[in-house]
Amino acid sequence: MDASCSFLKKNGVDKLRFGVILGTGFGTFINSMEDAIVIPYDSIPHFPEVTVEGHAGNLVYGSLHAIPILVMQGRFHRYEGYTNDQIGYPIHVMKALGVDILIITNAAGGLNPAFKVGDLMIVEDHIHLMGGAYNTLGDQIREGPCYDDELKEHLFKISIQKKRPVQRGILSWMPGPSFETRAEINMLRKLGADAVTMSTIPEAIIAHSLEMRILGISCISNQCAGIEEGLINTAEVMMAVRSSAETFSRLIFHLLDDLQ
Ligand code: HPA
Repeated sequence: MDASCSFLKKNGVDKLRFGVILGTGFGTFINSMEDAIVIPYDSIPHFPEVTVEGHAGNLVYGSLHAIPILVMQGRFHRYEGYTNDQIGYPIHVMKALGVDILIITNAAGGLNPAFKVGDLMIVEDHIHLMGGAYNTLGDQIREGPCYDDELKEHLFKISIQKKRPVQRGILSWMPGPSFETRAEINMLRKLGADAVTMSTIPEAIIAHSLEMRILGISCISNQCAGIEEGLINTAEVMMAVRSSAETFSRLIFHLLDDLQ
């Protein structure tokens, strides 16, 4: 951890409070950053190795209208074989560098029939049926709400003021990498989930245990009900999210501006 942090500090990472994890299709967010320094994961001592060719794997340090932020462009999923410790490692590093507000984004399948493809959803809470040990790096499992109420309300208010409406809902997690079966979709709906993803929730549990304030934002990339009409694939997920990434960038800029 010390070696990772001192390497990043040597590369200019400094004065941090805000971290962002970008999900599939959110990559263009970094275009709205100024003075961005791109630091490939494989250059950072002790960082998990990126195994999937073609997946971005960079920490991007820069600012959003003069507010310093550290962004994970590319993340580690359980379905790629990473352990919770590996998934959590970058979050521990962010914490050690001063990040106390973490915005975690993802592409998600919509379960709530009122949601449309491209909608952004503020994560109210999550359903994580899989369990798992998340505290092996020495952090304590914390009870209590994972997602910060003030951040949720604040972003919601901004979305209304700026006339960029967003949804709010419960996010569920499935391990992937295959998309859910019809039976699984029915199950998740009955459990009260509004959307389903293969990322974010392990990261949120780890960040919560590190006492970070967390804001979760999903982009509905496909309606699960529509799966019967044809198979979805990662390229379609990517396209659907891209169209909403600009709205995301604007909302986050206003949020950070208010919080700084
Ligand atoms: N299920 C799980 N994860 C996803 C989906 C989905 O339908 N779409 C994008 N990420």
